[in-house]
Amino acid sequence: MNLRAATSADLELLRHWDEQPHVVASDPNDDWGWEVELDRTYDWREQLIAEIDDRPIGFLEIIDPAREESHYWGECAPNLRAIDIWIGEATDLGKGYGTQMMQLALARCFADSAVTAVLVDPLASNIRAHRFYERLGFQFVERRQFGADDCYVYQLDRANWQIDPAIAPHPLP
Ligand SMILES: CC(C)(COP(=O)(O)OP(=O)(O)OC[C@H]1O[C@@H](n2cnc3c(N)ncnc32)[C@H](O)[C@@H]1OP(=O)(O)O)[C@@H](O)C(=O)NCCC(=O)NCCS
Repeated sequence: MNLRAATSADLELLRHWDEQPHVVASDPNDDWGWEVELDRTYDWREQLIAEIDDRPIGFLEIIDPAREESHYWGECAPNLRAIDIWIGEATDLGKGYGTQMMQLALARCFADSAVTAVLVDPLASNIRAHRFYERLGFQFVERRQFGADDCYVYQLDRANWQIDPAIAPHPLP
């Protein structure tokens, strides 16, 4: 698996994934504004496509929540990252791809030695996602309303990050 930058060439693919019931269920109220956002580059955001043998299978966004412009996360400490993730096609769910994507994303986040922790905000109703994050070492922080979304905030501190040796054979600082 590899991660590459999402570009405007991914517009139709991302729109198609947006319509899949498991994606809608996990994020019913957001409009990602792909036609505008895929052409924008910010130093506080990465929008990434995960590929297996050149086949795109999922999407990841990593932001610095303190610097993200809409201040979605509110007042935030510096040196955090927040991740959004989904697998595109239902046939690709439950095959370990999401775990691999998160391991690559976490390695990317913590490769910056200033980064202390990573946040995620699954819907309170998305119990399978809670389990997914807990297995990766994330700890529940609080239940929080983000706009119309009732969410659980989870955090993975650097100290609780279990480095996957297949991804980071040499421990990062
Ligand atoms: C969450 C997600 C990225 C995990 O990727 P994955 O490749 O399916 O997961 P893995 O195979 O690595 O691990 C399996 C675990 O993923 C979670 N999972 C599987 N299908 C899921 C689904 N439709 N929705 C949410 N979580 C799911 C479960 O915890 C599952 O473990 P379980 O079978 O014991 O319940 C993926 O399931 C997904 O895209 N779900 C829909 C979107 C979503 O919920 N994103 C997270 C929002 S914060």
